[in-house]
Amino acid sequence: MKLLELINATKIYTAFEGLFAGSGTSFKAADDISITLEQGKNLGIVGESGSGKTTVAKIICDIIQPDSGEALYKGRNIKALGKGYAEYRKNVQMIFQDPYTSLNPKLTVFSAMYDGIAAHSSLTKTEIREKCETLMEMVGLEKEHLDRFPHEFSGGQRQRVSIARALSLDPEIIIADEPVSSLDVSVQAQILNLLKKLSKENNITLVLISHDLAVVSFLCDEVIVMHKGKIVERGTAEQVIHSPREEYTKKLLEACVYR
Ligand SMILES: Nc1ncnc2c1ncn2[C@@H]1O[C@H](COP(=O)(O)OP(=O)(O)OP(=O)(O)O)[C@@H](O)[C@H]1O
Ligand SMILES: [Mg+2]
Repeated sequence: MKLLELINATKIYTAFEGLFAGSGTSFKAADDISITLEQGKNLGIVGESGSGKTTVAKIICDIIQPDSGEALYKGRNIKALGKGYAEYRKNVQMIFQDPYTSLNPKLTVFSAMYDGIAAHSSLTKTEIREKCETLMEMVGLEKEHLDRFPHEFSGGQRQRVSIARALSLDPEIIIADEPVSSLDVSVQAQILNLLKKLSKENNITLVLISHDLAVVSFLCDEVIVMHKGKIVERGTAEQVIHSPREEYTKKLLEACVYR
């Protein structure tokens, strides 16, 4: 089933070079992007810094809107979902590179998860607590950790917390934007394994963004390669890793950390 589609999505930013209005030059951070997210098929997005990966992720999550082209959720334009919009937002969750900036420092893990679950379910407070305890175990943390604040965790643990929070809404899609690049190499593999396991077990479609083609091929069925806002190559992870067609993809492969 097609969960989400971008059709010829383009996002234009204006870089202001001077102080005066009108002196900006426009450029396309995402240029004519078409992708389909199918249920159960993980998609990898790779490309060097500034190639437009996060821009595409933000369009998928409706954090930003394309200047032209369309974003469809289950065949309907996101802008025209009406009452279905809340369901779309629940079903598409994002995990960021640095979990510290995405977790509210003033809220315990439990309070951070509570409101979202309460808004999207009819569970009682006790049931929500039980659900959160289960989620903590799923991501390899202790249930007592629910009462801690974000600063009371290590970097790897914090990323586990943000994965638990994303899972707490039972999403269909999780977009993980460089989820391990702020972590020690030894912890990176643990988090990637966790994402792989959880996406399979919970039938979640993963969109994984990384500089590193090898990381993406470990988790994803299909891969797109971005360069200067455009998709320059796409294929199965196998194809892109073992027989890249584009020179740019070959260069990215040479720069992989895990090989
Ligand atoms: N709000 C914004 N205003 C203006 N330009 C922006 C804005 N957000 C991103 N850009 C520019 O758009 C381009 C693509 O940015 P994007 O964040 O999508 O790249 P990326 O591939 O995610 O890079 P990285 O790997 O460093 O995270 C970059 O040149 C960036 O400077
Ligand atoms: Mg980015």
